[in-house]
Amino acid sequence: MKNEAYSRFLKKHPTFKNTVALDLLREKDYQTLDSEGHVYLDYTGGGLYANSQLTTHQELLSKNIFGNPHSYNPTSLHATELVESARNYVLEYFNASPEEYVCIFTQNASGALKIVGESYPFGEGCRYVLIFDNHNSVNGIREYANAKGANVQYIPVVLPDLRVDETVLFDELNSSDRGCFNLFAFPAQSNFSGVQHPLTWIEKAQALGWDILLDAAAFTATNRLDLSQWKPDFVPLSFYKMFGYPTGVGILLARKDAVSKLHRSWFAGGTTTVTSVRGEKYYPADAPACFEDGTVDFLSIPAVEIGLRHLKSIGIDVIHDRVASLTGWLLDTLSELQHKNGTHLIKIYGPLTTNARGGTITVNFFNSKGKLIQKHLLEKEANKRKISIRMGFFCNPGAGEIALDISTDELSSCFSRPHYSDRLTDLDFQQCIDPKASGAVRISLGLVSNFADVQAFIAFAGTFINK
Ligand SMILES: Cc1ncc(COP(=O)(O)O)c(C=O)c1O
Repeated sequence: MKNEAYSRFLKKHPTFKNTVALDLLREKDYQTLDSEGHVYLDYTGGGLYANSQLTTHQELLSKNIFGNPHSYNPTSLHATELVESARNYVLEYFNASPEEYVCIFTQNASGALKIVGESYPFGEGCRYVLIFDNHNSVNGIREYANAKGANVQYIPVVLPDLRVDETVLFDELNSSDRGCFNLFAFPAQSNFSGVQHPLTWIEKAQALGWDILLDAAAFTATNRLDLSQWKPDFVPLSFYKMFGYPTGVGILLARKDAVSKLHRSWFAGGTTTVTSVRGEKYYPADAPACFEDGTVDFLSIPAVEIGLRHLKSIGIDVIHDRVASLTGWLLDTLSELQHKNGTHLIKIYGPLTTNARGGTITVNFFNSKGKLIQKHLLEKEANKRKISIRMGFFCNPGAGEIALDISTDELSSCFSRPHYSDRLTDLDFQQCIDPKASGAVRISLGLVSNFADVQAFIAFAGTFINK
């Protein structure tokens, strides 16, 4: 049966054959996945690391002595050398000219976004425009914008594909005050629907006087981001999403002309050239140092270069093609699953083809009477089968509210209940707007996903047919 399905799959996606090197790599370098019987389908949550990344990093640490890079002694200089090597390699990996971009190490994508939020020169009459489909760490920047009197405006995504109507977007972007600092934020790939929003927006919006914040956190694990072709002003991302290890390191890639607009409202160890207590004065260092608070994670940062070299050795295009084939198969097969009475088991939120979308698929399950199957039942069954998937809104409430048709009125009536004025738990929210507020189920593919993984999910889904 599996072979028959595999033959049909290959017939539909013949280029998958060109990616078999990844099957071999999985056997060799990601053994634990199969030896422990895991079906890992949460790559948008976090990528997986290869054993070889760990051993290379371990060897580096065990054979060297590294001191705090803020000094000039031998151990410190060695740490600095590796941090700077990783920084240069990050720029090289993304094809970003060091003349044009700086690479700022952060704790994660959220840390990078916070730097932009707190230091962007929002002001009265200036604007922060973002699309509904954004991660909360991008949504959160609206609090900085509001606090400085800027005008915050959301552009909706539209059903069924959860893409933006470009006419609506550019009507908005066209109506900005060019004398102001205006920031437009969108993700290169949605962590909710997998939609890849057009990178062509970058240049068009810049021509209208906007700075562009391109959230690349969910994009770069399976797609090429070439910063010699696309030139967003700010690009945040987390490395664990690309290659699993290390956690706790991200970057803000920022264009030098854009970075010069940022102003920080504090200083910390390492961010100044000279600081005086008696003289009550400090002099900010140049970027990237002025944005790297305290000591960077100098033992983990060399593992970033190891991870990037690992990806490079595989080839991001091979990973992309493989994920696209498996995504196409999942989309087609899940859409076809029906109960005996002809009703569909699964509703997919977002595009049903692989055109301009990545390997993140968000769905809900419905019984034969068309009623939503509760997440805790799905989770319990998935966990029994060692299938790792994610439930909820994935920190992307905007896409979720549109996909699940949760209206502004429903939300206002919930939020305005007196006992919810200051505090609202997840559970309260679900009771308020039940059952839609339980969100959806996310399946996401990545570097070493294989045909068996997607078949395991399809088999799991099949157990809910006729329920
Ligand atoms: C699109 C997107 N942006 C930002 C983030 C935030 O990343 P982190 O939690 O690593 O800061 C995520 C994490 O899931 C994401 O998917």
